[in-house]
Amino acid sequence: MQTSQLHPTSSRLQQVDFANLGFGNYVSDHMLVATYKNKQWTNYEILPYSPLSMAPSALALHYGQTVFEGMKAFRHQQGGVSIFRIEKHYDRFCRSLQRLCMPAIPFEVFVTGLKELVSKDRAWVPAKDGDSLYIRPFMIATEERFGVKVSEEYKFIIFTGPVGSYYSRPLKVKVEDEYMRAAKGGTGYAKCGGNYGASFYPAQKAQEQGFDQILWTDGSPELNIEESGTMNAMFVIDGKVVTPATSDTILDGVTRDSLLTLAVDLGYPVETRRISAFELAQKHQANLLQEAFGTGTAAVTSPICCINIQGKDYFLPDYTENSFCVKARNLLHAIRTGNTPDKYSWNTIV
Ligand code: COI
Repeated sequence: MQTSQLHPTSSRLQQVDFANLGFGNYVSDHMLVATYKNKQWTNYEILPYSPLSMAPSALALHYGQTVFEGMKAFRHQQGGVSIFRIEKHYDRFCRSLQRLCMPAIPFEVFVTGLKELVSKDRAWVPAKDGDSLYIRPFMIATEERFGVKVSEEYKFIIFTGPVGSYYSRPLKVKVEDEYMRAAKGGTGYAKCGGNYGASFYPAQKAQEQGFDQILWTDGSPELNIEESGTMNAMFVIDGKVVTPATSDTILDGVTRDSLLTLAVDLGYPVETRRISAFELAQKHQANLLQEAFGTGTAAVTSPICCINIQGKDYFLPDYTENSFCVKARNLLHAIRTGNTPDKYSWNTIV
């Protein structure tokens, strides 16, 4: 596939405060853009990062046909840049697109284009340990029409930006028993914009009550745990790594999957199963609830220090270098940066 490339007149790299990146504050110089029209994708282009021109009646702005991915790239100690688990992100992107009636993007555009984009902006990949280049592929419905329908035109875009940590301290979370993130048969497993927009109001209410985030449940009287904020939820209970099984209400997290693989390597038994808030309370009372944390591309692992279940706080023990979530995070980081063999071939080096 042919590509066209334009170069920004001047790089914005000098404006980046690499010592204090935060999350979502900086965008690299270039973006990839492909257009879908007449049932086919055009060649992708790598362009200077710049605003889009869109009709106010573009369907994405009204009826929510928007899907995204979140990926990361790291400086590799052998000199290149490693992009983490491209194929798994591509597969999930396609599953999300299908749920929103949006056309699949060819593997070639996603992979070749992404490699080219990351390679072009390789100077933007942070050098500091723990920082990374966040990659945001997304698709939006661009057809100009406000009748409620499936769009016939789309843009596929990828931009990137250097990021540091997502959360700076362990989280106090509330088991949500009023609002739900997803329901059976809904879009919970898809990475579509609406899932995030709809979570803001309950998250804001929880923050007003002094919590950092929500532990979502399935809305049943058992309060089965589903996700944690915008992350998958994981626990260590009596020496076992436990996480809800993926389903149509739970995102198939790439970090979740990677940590479950590494758990086995680290000698932890793994259980993917239903886990209710009441079980968490019970295991806490028996001193068996050792760790609770969120897992996601942005945060990697985000330890939880307190879980509030129906008004009662359950405090978790402090996290140390011996905690599973710390050991697994370190091992994952070592694999992505080339400091430990990549035995699962998760890295694509550019
Ligand atoms: C991620 O972890 O990459 C996410 O997609 C969560 C958030 C940044 C939207």
